[in-house]
Amino acid sequence: MEGFSFTVTAGAGILMLAFLYVNELRGSPSRIMNFKDKVVLITGAAQGIGRATARQFAEHGARVIIHYNSNREQAEKTRASLKGGSHAIIQADITNADQARGLVEDVVRDFGRLDALVNNAATFKLHPIAAVSYDEWREAWQDTINTNLIGTANLMFCAAQQMIRQRAGKIINVSSRGAFRGEPDAPAYGASKAGLNAMSQSLAQALAPHNVFVYVVAPGFVDTERVAWKVHGPDGEAIINQSPLKRVARPDEVARTVLFLASEGTDFLTGCIVDINGASYLRS
Ligand SMILES: NC(=O)c1ccc[n+]([C@@H]2O[C@H](COP(=O)([O-])OP(=O)(O)OC[C@H]3O[C@@H](n4cnc5c(N)ncnc54)[C@H](OP(=O)(O)O)[C@@H]3O)[C@@H](O)[C@H]2O)c1
Repeated sequence: MEGFSFTVTAGAGILMLAFLYVNELRGSPSRIMNFKDKVVLITGAAQGIGRATARQFAEHGARVIIHYNSNREQAEKTRASLKGGSHAIIQADITNADQARGLVEDVVRDFGRLDALVNNAATFKLHPIAAVSYDEWREAWQDTINTNLIGTANLMFCAAQQMIRQRAGKIINVSSRGAFRGEPDAPAYGASKAGLNAMSQSLAQALAPHNVFVYVVAPGFVDTERVAWKVHGPDGEAIINQSPLKRVARPDEVARTVLFLASEGTDFLTGCIVDINGASYLRS
């Protein structure tokens, strides 16, 4: 009987060790990316990359605030698809400075803190220089810079005030390969994302003494609703051939990188710009 109980105990021990070892090898997400009760605000999360990021944060325990501007119906769908119940939806036009401040204030009032801000909201407008009027040109520039750069700058300011008070926080900005490779038909977009990169790096330096860290992800084409017409249209084959992987990124791949940067142990990566472009555009 004694021999039997020893065998059972040893067997259970070996099973437990094997389980821990396999988990270690697989890098168990629950251990590496634990966002339990962290408060995460994701802008432009009604669809696309924002929605995928919201899902992954919720999957790993975060309380997610889904921000949207015009797409309430899709924002509701994002919330319905999240694991857990303590999430919220907030509307704001980030080109409006008061609404941008109100968005952050609402989060802090309702959730008590802000652990991570993902600046994902952006606009993209075609305005090829040889084809548009001067009015169209100026409108595209104004709108793009107001949204992608100034709107994001204002959100960073407001979020940073809270994060400085907390002496903790992470800001992850979603940029684009276009900042480096050029956007011949949407130069304002390329410029806005290049500006976003520079702003993020300056603020990484300014905020590090406050224990607040700033990161950038720069995707190439990602298979989202917004670019479906292009990725799945006549240009689709040329687009997938830009990468030796012969495909574009999946929203989940961008989301996973955002979660990694927001996770513990990445403080020293502050100021980094992570390319997510399947080696379609290499820079060093
Ligand atoms: N998809 C790609 O191929 C790709 C490639 C490189 C970089 N990116 C970047 O990845 C991010 C997400 O892209 P996505 O493809 O998922 O695009 P998306 O579906 O268009 O998501 C962006 C969201 O931004 C929000 N937004 C736009 N203007 C706003 C404003 N004035 N105020 C508040 N919110 C505003 C929109 O919200 P509403 O819908 O609620 O109005 C929209 O849902 C963007 O920063 C984009 O530049 C995407």
